[in-house]
Amino acid sequence: MNRIEGRVKVTGLATYAAEYPVEGVTYACAVQSRIARGRVKRVDAGPALELPGVLAVLSCEDPPPLAEDADPELALFQSREVAYRGQIVAAVVADTYERARAAAGAVRVDYDPGDHDVTLRMDHPGLYRPEVVNPGYPADTEKGDVEAGLAAAATTVDVVYETPVLHNNPMEPHAALAYWDADGRLMVYDTAQGSSTSRNMIARTLGLPREQVRVVSRHVGGGFGSKGTTRPQAILAALAARAVGRPVKIVLTRQQMFDVTGHRTPTIQRLRLGADAGGRLTALEHVAYVQTSTLVEFAEQTAVPARVMYATPALRTAHRVVRLDVATPSWMRAPGECPGMYALESAMDELACAAGLDPVELRIRNEPETEPDSGLPFSSRHLVGCLREGARRFGWEHRDPRPGVRREGEWLIGTGVAASTYPARRAPSKALAKVLDDGDILVQVGAADIGTGARTALTRIAATALNVAPERVHVELGDSDLPDGPVAGGSMGTASWGSAVVRACEELVKDGKEGRADTTDEVRKEAELARHAFGAQFAEVRVSAVTGEVRVSRLLGVFACGHIVDAKLARSQFIGGMTMGIGMALMEETLTDEEFGGFLHRDLAQYHIPVCADVRDVEAYWLDEQDDALNPMGAKGIGEIGIVGTAAAIGNAVFHATGHRVRDLPITPAKVLRNTE
Ligand code: MOS
Repeated sequence: MNRIEGRVKVTGLATYAAEYPVEGVTYACAVQSRIARGRVKRVDAGPALELPGVLAVLSCEDPPPLAEDADPELALFQSREVAYRGQIVAAVVADTYERARAAAGAVRVDYDPGDHDVTLRMDHPGLYRPEVVNPGYPADTEKGDVEAGLAAAATTVDVVYETPVLHNNPMEPHAALAYWDADGRLMVYDTAQGSSTSRNMIARTLGLPREQVRVVSRHVGGGFGSKGTTRPQAILAALAARAVGRPVKIVLTRQQMFDVTGHRTPTIQRLRLGADAGGRLTALEHVAYVQTSTLVEFAEQTAVPARVMYATPALRTAHRVVRLDVATPSWMRAPGECPGMYALESAMDELACAAGLDPVELRIRNEPETEPDSGLPFSSRHLVGCLREGARRFGWEHRDPRPGVRREGEWLIGTGVAASTYPARRAPSKALAKVLDDGDILVQVGAADIGTGARTALTRIAATALNVAPERVHVELGDSDLPDGPVAGGSMGTASWGSAVVRACEELVKDGKEGRADTTDEVRKEAELARHAFGAQFAEVRVSAVTGEVRVSRLLGVFACGHIVDAKLARSQFIGGMTMGIGMALMEETLTDEEFGGFLHRDLAQYHIPVCADVRDVEAYWLDEQDDALNPMGAKGIGEIGIVGTAAAIGNAVFHATGHRVRDLPITPAKVLRNTE
């Protein structure tokens, strides 16, 4: 299906959070900390308040009331402690955006600075084992004897891989427009990956009952995790609107987004693998070192995918976290799976090379019967099918395994492969379906369409459930006044909302007029199974022996993600994810400023992402996978798996092209040249 909202988007008629016309609107601008650690001694609002059009200055000098248990990242102005450079320490409200920005620069903040530490190291004395890693997995697992497995191995690999701080950069910046009704109800147009969940978070932070808050986010211009939890702009808009008694709009600048909308933790990962003479793993150990803030523990589940992938008699995974003077890391495009599989799948390639085995064959030889860590049966798993189908389509069988031997002029050519995986979860959701006067069907669900095509997918799901033409189905989403739905995150939106939509449609058929559904019980009663999507990524690269530039001349992914609800939408998700993988492999990196704290890369001039010229030939395919243990659609999430494995496939291809391993992302020309010199 074509996107239902495609026309309004390309004609500019789709209304985003900051664009709602509201009478008497004012503008807020945040003032950010210039130190990475310490205390705010004094905020002098005087000079700002003297400027024209300035209505208010908010700061810790006069803290607005908030819930005691508010998330510290959202507890604006409640504390004088500074936890990271760029933290919001004050805000100005003025009658125009320009005046608000100018006045924000006039607010004087005096600090008592302390010594900061913003650098993740493998030997950091502050590293500790968290209770759990996101979203609730054990931090460490151990099965069998890794040391014995390594000692008995015919081939071993012991390597350290690193990934940098990364930032989500949705096209639509984080924004909020808030006002208070005469009856005390708060209205927020927010850039949120979930209107129900953002409503809950805003209400909790402000200490209000949920019914007193409404969040609308009908169109969201990308999020990738950075809009998955409520961000400070929503709270700031609400507080500022209360302070000035008028609607307040806030749009973060691209630079501010780097500071206050979360980042992907950098990772340092040690992989130790052992294989017998036949290429079967004798041991697999994956230890991940990540950072969090001093405010909140966010422990990324980097080594978790190693618990899912390969059969081995000895499997150990571990996570260590250190609290640094940085903003709290957050969700970003397959958090955990993405950096974790980069390291694991790169190390598997190293093992294949060391063992003299084809890397596709190595993976097939280590295909497990059940989930390696838990022993649970898989609801479905077609990794081998993806590898075989990908190899066939890519033309893998003619590959010469020798590295560094294909050259066309200045260009060294190589190919690489990696596996991908992502959990197939769902969360409880409600939905309503009813017959309208003209016989068409209205479907309401508190879902979010963040650019994925959720509105279109849900239309198709409802049309299929009711056996009517999609044109007769009208889906409403993006409003917390609709039946509650979970966040568009964890690649589980379609599975979660879609389940509720199907059940509501079934009730509608029974009733003739209206059907309501709540899948809480259905989700709770799910059988215990290992539910994951799988895929195989193939890459061809051309590496300039002169400049070190890496061009991805070809990317091909084959995925097994249950039933694909809509081919056109799915293809977009897969190739979009794979394109993000090009960015991760070659370009994306935020450098941390050790001297002053904070981030050195703070805009798209410095933080590079792939442009059209970087994205040459990307193909996505899928296997028709029948899995009845998932949800009424038989669908697995597809939002994130396209990213997973791509960077490893590209990195493995760079090795195949050049004969040298780069073990820290991104694979920049400088690193390639340093290696080949
Ligand atoms: Mo995605 S990082 O689960 O929003």
